Amino acid sequence: TLRSTDELITEARAGGRAVAAFNVITLEHAEGIVAGAEQVGVPVILQISENAVKFHGGSLLPIARASAAVAQSAGVPVSLHLDHVEDEALLRQAADAGFSSVMFDASHAEYAENVEATRRAAEWAHRNGLLIEAELGQVGGKDGVHLGAHEPGARTDPDEAVAYVAATGVDALAVAVGSSHAMTTRTAGLDFELIERLRDAVAIPLVLHGSSGVPDEALAAGIRAGIVKVNIGTALNLAYTGAVRSFLDADAKTVDPRKFLKPARAALAETVAQMLAVVSG
Ligand code: G3H
Ligand code: ZN
Repeated sequence: TLRSTDELITEARAGGRAVAAFNVITLEHAEGIVAGAEQVGVPVILQISENAVKFHGGSLLPIARASAAVAQSAGVPVSLHLDHVEDEALLRQAADAGFSSVMFDASHAEYAENVEATRRAAEWAHRNGLLIEAELGQVGGKDGVHLGAHEPGARTDPDEAVAYVAATGVDALAVAVGSSHAMTTRTAGLDFELIERLRDAVAIPLVLHGSSGVPDEALAAGIRAGIVKVNIGTALNLAYTGAVRSFLDADAKTVDPRKFLKPARAALAETVAQMLAVVSG
């Protein structure tokens, strides 16, 4: 069934768990994610990134409608989230496409500019009934060097986070606490003490991005420390592409893509089920 991200986050938080949001690139991703969630019987968020929309030619509707249809017929609660939006025109497309939440990403900008753009985005999101997540970029120690929020070494400052949440009015906060996007090994270390300080400082739920690179034990400990939404993309693509590669490496004759998409989707579902056991366990 299609539910709202707000409901899924609130329920997870109340139960001392987190909810996982998995990145959808193709229809088979949406199907595999829901199949994995059904295997373990827990809710899940399907998230479509601005980059994925660009891959599909810039229009949100085809992949959003397909994902919403998969969500509607799912045997577990599923919500739809628009991820890492930098383009305000794309943000506005989210209103009538089945999404109940968006992540507006101005983390590349300097603080004041991030606040102003995010405040505008939050006003728009709330007028349209959407939950909005945003990301606070952070100067990572070295003078004058501005790190993106998830570059190694970047950290979110608790005092700045408090001011940012108050100034923007966002509903969830992506924090830089040691993870980094697009890691293909699970070797990231999380700063649990910082997660606890952030949880105690801001009232809204904390979001971990780049979770593919975080080992299971650290993910579980990060959730105990205060992470409520866990974003996972690359781990699925590792499983999916790995299955396609091993099929095609062993078979030079197949032409029907269903032959290799089927095991790829199943491998993706298996990864989803494994990670959900950690996140929602
Ligand atoms: O917003 C998406 C996530 O941060 C995905 O990151 O691909 O490194 O797991 P990941
Ligand atoms: Zn992310």
